Amino acid sequence: MTLLGDMEPAEAESVYFNEYSAPKALPKHEALARAFIDLHVEDNRRVVLVTSGGTTVPLETQTVRFIDNFSAGTRGATSAEYFLQQGYAVIFLHRQYSLLPYSRHYSHSTNCFLDFMDEAPPTADAANPDHGSIVVRSEYQDEMRDVLRKYRYAKQNNRLLLLPFTTVAEYMFELRAMAKLMRPLGSNALFYLAAAVSDFFIPRSRMAEHKIQSQEIPAHLQGDTVDDSEEIYTGENEIQPPKNQKKLVVNLDPVPKFLHRLVDGWAPDGSMVVSFKLETDPSLLVYKARTALQRYSHHLVIGNLLSTRKWEVVFITPDAPHERWIRVPKARRSKSISGVEDQVGLAEIQKGGSAQKPTSQTEDVPPSDETRDGVEIESLIIPELVKLHDKMIEKKTQKTE
Ligand code: PMT
Repeated sequence: MTLLGDMEPAEAESVYFNEYSAPKALPKHEALARAFIDLHVEDNRRVVLVTSGGTTVPLETQTVRFIDNFSAGTRGATSAEYFLQQGYAVIFLHRQYSLLPYSRHYSHSTNCFLDFMDEAPPTADAANPDHGSIVVRSEYQDEMRDVLRKYRYAKQNNRLLLLPFTTVAEYMFELRAMAKLMRPLGSNALFYLAAAVSDFFIPRSRMAEHKIQSQEIPAHLQGDTVDDSEEIYTGENEIQPPKNQKKLVVNLDPVPKFLHRLVDGWAPDGSMVVSFKLETDPSLLVYKARTALQRYSHHLVIGNLLSTRKWEVVFITPDAPHERWIRVPKARRSKSISGVEDQVGLAEIQKGGSAQKPTSQTEDVPPSDETRDGVEIESLIIPELVKLHDKMIEKKTQKTE
């Protein structure tokens, strides 16, 4: 049997999408996106599709368990804000419950919104003499006012459309539909693929319908699930398998890389496609990012290491300088629990496997925005990316004149 990853992109597309029915929310999302895009086509405004967060890989059709990844959606949500600041309208295709533009400043456990609030001294209220109004603590007033104003502006002016997905299949359906709907935008369309999309999945045809059992089920209760369950978990190679428990062996197929289809089929002619490349091994990052650019023939790959992604990225482009590092200046780096500062610069030094001095353009671009926690690297990435998009649009306009 041919694996999806070994098929031609168009064939893999048809096989993959035939495995699943479209997500229930898709028609509603399409209607919202169509209206959103029409509005911005009319105003000749640029629209960026930002993908954000991780995708799940369900193990059962009626899903109890799934495989997930680390992505919290920080890159996507933060970038969306800077795109809005640059005048773009944003379709934010995100993993449900991951970080969102603006509310990210006050969500999730590290920044619980309740820590920003206080109760003012009680005012004369006969019914509730001990109740004070809920207010924002004085030290957070300025920052919250700023975030609130930007959020309201985006909302009131229809600049931000939030569309959630959960599974990798939902993500693929949504991405394809949005790209096709964006065709009227032509070169005003930008794709910024920051989501961490799973490379592996269980085809629907091999997926267990019901919750995978960890213990033997009496024969009279096994019903239709018996074949599935025996295939899915085994006690193989156990010298002494546990008596009443089973070992789960998961067999995943590769998810086809749909970047080919996005670039060559779904996306509007003249649009700009930016993908991300994530690695953990510094010696592989530049090589893998370059290979992705050659393979998919799009416009920019932004490479990042898991351990330094909040402080440095590399732009890999088809045109000179081909490789360009963007870094937050050392003194202005945010704190990161998972980050490893010692690794900043390592991927540049180690590219090609040899220890050499950094030779590419390494820049400490002046920071354009800052939060309590330091400069956000997205405040440096987005303006640089917008310059590249400007150039592409300019070239296109010159061609058609
Ligand atoms: O959310 P954060 O915690 O802030 O983390 C941000 C990030 C590290 C997730 C982000 O900066 C990032 O690097 N995202 C891309 C990670 C990734 O999926 O890399 P990849 O090498 O697996 O894929 C490269 C590209 O191929 C991606 O742009 C993806 O859209 C695309 N892809 C991936 C898998 C797949 N089956 N089909 C695809 O087309």
